[in-house]
Order: sequence, then structure tokens, then C-alpha cells
Amino acid sequence: MEGRQKLVVNGGKRLEGELKVHGAKNSALPLLSAAVLAHGESVFHNCPQLSDVDAACRILTQLGCKCKRAADTVMVDATNVVGNEIPDNLMREMRGSIIFLGSIIGRTGRCRLTFPGGCELGARPIDLHISSLRQMGAVITEEHGYLECEAPSGLHGAKITLSFPSVGATENILLAAAVAKGYTEIHNAAREPEIIDLAACLNKFGAKISGAGESVIAIEGVQRLTAAEHTVIPDRIVAGTYLCAAAITRGEIILTHCEPVFMNGFTPVLEEMGARIYTYGGGKMYLSCKKSLKAPSTVRTMPYPGFPTDIQAPFTALCATAEGTSVFVETIFENRFRHISELVRLGASIKVEGRVCVVEGVKKLSGAKVRAAELRGGAALVVAALAAEGTSEISGTGYIERGYESLETALRSIGADIKKV
Ligand code: UD1
Repeated sequence: MEGRQKLVVNGGKRLEGELKVHGAKNSALPLLSAAVLAHGESVFHNCPQLSDVDAACRILTQLGCKCKRAADTVMVDATNVVGNEIPDNLMREMRGSIIFLGSIIGRTGRCRLTFPGGCELGARPIDLHISSLRQMGAVITEEHGYLECEAPSGLHGAKITLSFPSVGATENILLAAAVAKGYTEIHNAAREPEIIDLAACLNKFGAKISGAGESVIAIEGVQRLTAAEHTVIPDRIVAGTYLCAAAITRGEIILTHCEPVFMNGFTPVLEEMGARIYTYGGGKMYLSCKKSLKAPSTVRTMPYPGFPTDIQAPFTALCATAEGTSVFVETIFENRFRHISELVRLGASIKVEGRVCVVEGVKKLSGAKVRAAELRGGAALVVAALAAEGTSEISGTGYIERGYESLETALRSIGADIKKV
């Protein structure tokens, strides 16, 4: 997962140009899981070429689906779903594999997978996934690190209230409820755009879901879903990372194929810091940042539509050279400041205390050897290195490839001196 390659960045180059934003990883994964439920061949356009998406395709193949890719289109033929087990090596490859639980049990009435243990962001429990499926009639046991889920006579609808609007749990309920007997209602559902995308796709398959994007989602179960074509929404976190990269070099960028509305949780923070942002119709956004940036008021990560936890790390990098003191409160994951010690190696002045990190803006960062320990933290190191004087080497690139399609090629095309070795 860590990868053997390194990114070598000669910082200090001003970024200027246009970048196309690729499809959202966090949409593509649940959509590929949804394909398990749909009889026939589903076609997903704008499906990003990422290692996590490849891992999802390996799971589909393991289940008996035929999976093909042509550029950014992925075809999944789920005519013969014969398996209902995800082996340990595939579960370990991608913690997000838990998203296959709802669709496998929905399609086959049984699912066996290993318990996704601790991970790079903290404990990441799945109690909400399990309790929700239990409310729908699944019998779930945990033994020797394996989760055995059974619903021999099928799942039934239920009124489920989540104690926290978990994205993954909401997705698993949507998948399972789409083909359960009767009516399901999710209260305190996650409202992320990726939830809306999953519901839209399931509805194309023939599901009856309403309210996705709101706190209450209603699902009338249907007997059978049929494959269809769907286009994955743009990746708002990749878009945000590109904006941070341009802003830290005091550059100028046009994003195409993005959805500015999905980015309302963090673009106001960039504006508060002094960046100028314009949005155009047709999925275009412009950012210019010619002068120095100022620290924003306290940033708290929140469920959508709040400030996304996934963009916290690139923003801490950006604030490293902003004037004044920035404060970040991480409310979603308990261990999401692992990149901070590496930013400090690059010359940033940042202190972490539990779930709070305090960034004292410095005049300049300086190149260093640093190591990515997870996806978004890795992207933050790239953002910082772009502004650091001299050469930086970032190892652990495998983590970055989980969520960014050839980040170095994209950044190089707008003026960064970055290469993978
Ligand atoms: C998804 C995203 C991830 C993003 C996160 C929050 C994917 C593949 N990943 O992760 O990039 O950072 O949403 O926006 O889409 N929790 C429990 N019990 C549960 C489930 C979750 O306690 O059963 C806790 C988690 O430990 C975490 C918080 O709820 O502290 C948020 O988790 P959740 O919204 O489920 O995130 P993921 O779906 O794992």
C-alpha cells in the first residue's frame, strides 16, 4: 500500500493553468458495490483510475462478476454472482471494502468478510453498519476476526435512526434496503453528495429511493434491480486539493469538470484567507491567489455540508504559510493529524493537542524528506512541498495513488516541478 516510489518536488514554482477534476473515489466505490445488486452489465463513466477502484474491481471479480475497464469507463457484469465472501487480503487492501456488505447480503442473503480492524485514521468501528443490518433482519456473528452475516429469508425494511450520520453505514443501508422486503426509513442519514450519487444510480437500476441528500431517506424495497449506465460525480476532495496547491504557490487555476456546489463546505474558507474564487456554469471554477494569505477563523471538520475531514490535511499545509494562527478541530476521525509531524519537517510550525491542531504561519517552508502515512495526509505533504524552498522527497506514494489519479502529472501540467522516481 505504501508503494516503493517517491515524489521529488522542487518547490517554489507558481502554479498556473487548467486542470480537469476526475471522478470521485468515494462515489465510485459504493457504485461498484451497487453493481453487485443489478442483474446484467452496468456501465460506469468517469470512473477514476485509482488503486482503491482496482481493489473494488478485484472484489467484484472474486464474487463472480466480470469487470472490464476502458479508459475511465468500467463495465461490471453481475449476471453470475456466485460468491459471497471477501477474503482477508482484499479486505486489508482497502478498508472501505465494508461497503460491499450491504450489496452482497442483499443479492445473496449471506456475506462473509474479515473484520476491518484499526486503520490509519483511528479505530474506525462498523457498529452502525452492523446494528442497522440487524434491524433489517440480518443475523451477524463475529468469530476469529470474521463477520458472518446471514439473512436466509431475505432482509426486511426497518426504521433506522443513526446515532451519527455515517457515510458508510448510510450507503450499506441504502444498498441492502433497495432490495429488502418492504419500507425502510433512515433517520440522521449522511447527506454527502456521494450518497445522492449512489441513490441516483440505484434508482436507475430500478430502486425506489427518495430523500437522498436530506437527513431522512425513504426506501421502498423492490424485488429485482437491473443494470444501467451511470456517470460518477466529480471528486470534490481532489478539486479542493488542486485549489490548495495553486493557492500555496500564490498561483492561479481553472478547474473543469468539477461541481462547485459540492465544495461550499471549504471554498468560503479559501475566500476568507484572501483567495479570489469565481464559479462558472458547466462545472468550472477559477481561483487566483496573488498576495499572501491570512489564517482563517477556527476550522471544524463536520459531516456534509460542513468542512470535510478529507480536505483538512491539505488545508493545514496551506495554512502553514498563511499570516497568523490557524486552528483546526478534527471532529470526525480521532487520528487524522499524522501528517503534521512531517509538515513540521518541512519547516511548518504546528502543534497538535488531541483533536486540535494549531498552525502558526511561517514565512517559508524548506524542502525535506518526508513520508506519507495515509491518503489525504500524503496529498498535504505534496501541497506543502510545492511551496517549500529546495527539494523535497515524499515517500509512501502508494497511499496518494489510492485517491489521486496521477497527481504529479496533473500538477506538472500547470507548472510544478514534480516527478515520480
Ligand atoms: C467515508 C469516506 C471518507 C471520509 C468519511 C467522512 C469513503 C470510502 N470514505 O468514510 O473518505 O473521510 O466518509 O466523510 O467514502 N463510525 C462509527 N461507527 C460506524 C461507522 C462510523 O463510530 O459504524 C465513526 C467513524 O469511526 C468516524 C465517523 O463515524 O469517526 C465517520 O465515519 P463514516 O462517516 O462512516 O466514514 P466512512 O464511511 O468510513
